[in-house]
Amino acid sequence: MELLVARDYEDMSRKAAEIIADQLRSKPESVLGLATGSTPLGTYEQLVKMYRDEKLSFSEASAFNLDEYYGLSPEHEQSYSHYMKANLFRHIDIKPENIHIPNGMAEDMPGECENYDRLIEKKGGIDLQLLGVGANGHIGFNEPDKELQVNTHLVRLTEDTIRANSRFFNSADEVPVMAVTMGLGSIMKAKRILLLASGSNKAEVIARIISGKCSTRLPASILQVHPGVTVIVDSEIGNYLKETGGFKNV
Ligand code: F6R
Repeated sequence: MELLVARDYEDMSRKAAEIIADQLRSKPESVLGLATGSTPLGTYEQLVKMYRDEKLSFSEASAFNLDEYYGLSPEHEQSYSHYMKANLFRHIDIKPENIHIPNGMAEDMPGECENYDRLIEKKGGIDLQLLGVGANGHIGFNEPDKELQVNTHLVRLTEDTIRANSRFFNSADEVPVMAVTMGLGSIMKAKRILLLASGSNKAEVIARIISGKCSTRLPASILQVHPGVTVIVDSEIGNYLKETGGFKNV
């Protein structure tokens, strides 16, 4: 694992956007794995700026999102489909046919999940996977459990995740209790992985993720066995790692 400590959220976002831009410049037809949530918002903002000011093109690229809420239509304001359009896709030149987000309304959910994995494979796998991490250690919606799933699947969200995500809804009751998520197989098959985290509430989970131990109770800890992971944190997390000796494992 490579660990980069950025000054703050803006600096973290800029560093992440630069890595994604380099990927696109060296391979315009890159397959990007994308995340939602608060963490990548600044990165997407930077990418939109690079598209406008530096002519960074997404015209040959494909995108696969990690996850989508079960039962929300793509038009729903809190769907990840809506989020991606609002924050990235409608501002850049990616072709609509190259955008892939699991369909949370699919009637045949096992078929939807199988197709999603098949499509990723058909495109040659993910070149660069962008990840945030839940305070409980989830990546995508792969929640802590006795066992972890390899393929794209339907998952029941934990109370922690529902509580954390209720900030985007009027109340916790409105948060869907299930989601479709890429499994750890698709994530781990990505050629390169970029994990972002900022703020003191993510410090402990980052320290545990890079601790040198893997557990299904902390899904992101599996990233330690991937050969191409870069973790970018802000100085708040960087200082916590320094104080707690967490640097020694990276
Ligand atoms: C989002 C996703 C989640 C988030 C995680 C952190 O597509 O897959 O794993 O990355 O819940 O969310 P934020 O960034 O809102 O703290």
